[in-house]
Amino acid sequence: MEIVTVGSYAEMSEIAAKIMIGELKKCPRAVLGLATGSTPLGLYKMLADAYKRGEISFRGVRSVNLDEYVGLGADNGNSYASFMNERLFGHVDILRENTYLPNGLAEDLQSECRRYDSLLDALPRNIQLLGIGSDGHIGFNEPGTSFIERTHIAELAKSTVTDNSRLFECGQAVPERALTMGIADIMSAEKILLLANGKNKAKAVWGMVSGQVTEDCPASILQRHKNVTVVLDGDAASLL
Ligand code: PGA
Repeated sequence: MEIVTVGSYAEMSEIAAKIMIGELKKCPRAVLGLATGSTPLGLYKMLADAYKRGEISFRGVRSVNLDEYVGLGADNGNSYASFMNERLFGHVDILRENTYLPNGLAEDLQSECRRYDSLLDALPRNIQLLGIGSDGHIGFNEPGTSFIERTHIAELAKSTVTDNSRLFECGQAVPERALTMGIADIMSAEKILLLANGKNKAKAVWGMVSGQVTEDCPASILQRHKNVTVVLDGDAASLL
């Protein structure tokens, strides 16, 4: 695991952007595993800017996202489909038909999980972008999730619902279930890039980097992946 510690959120985003841009230049038809949340916002802005400067194109790129809330569709501003459209896809030349997220509105959620597994099998990720939850989750794989789990319906931990409520407008309930890529799927990516900033991530980051590999801290499995880069700001790295 390569750990890079920097002084600020902006620097963290810049390093992540350099890595992603390098990947896209090397492999213009790359399959990107993408993440949502506040952590990658700076990175996505930088990727959109690099596209506007003509430095990179997403024309040949395919993307698969980690997760989606159950019950929310692209027309709901709180869905991850909507997040991706607003924060990245709407600003670059990616073909919408080449962007994939689990369908949180699927009538049969189990079949939707199996459909997503097939999609993941057909689209091995060149690089998987990750954030980390304050409880050590990756994607929505909460503590206790089996390391061999594939796409599944996740019951969100109370702390995750609380953490995510800041992104919802006042009075709107945070869904308590999501469809998420499993840990086995995350581990099958060729390369993993995990970003973390802020004091509230320090304990989870410690567990991921220095703790035992245990399902109690899902991110700790990344110690067993052969190509992981972790970019941290000083606060997230403060317990290392
Ligand atoms: P955040 O979420 O980027 O909004 O902190 C990260 C995560 O829960 O994986």
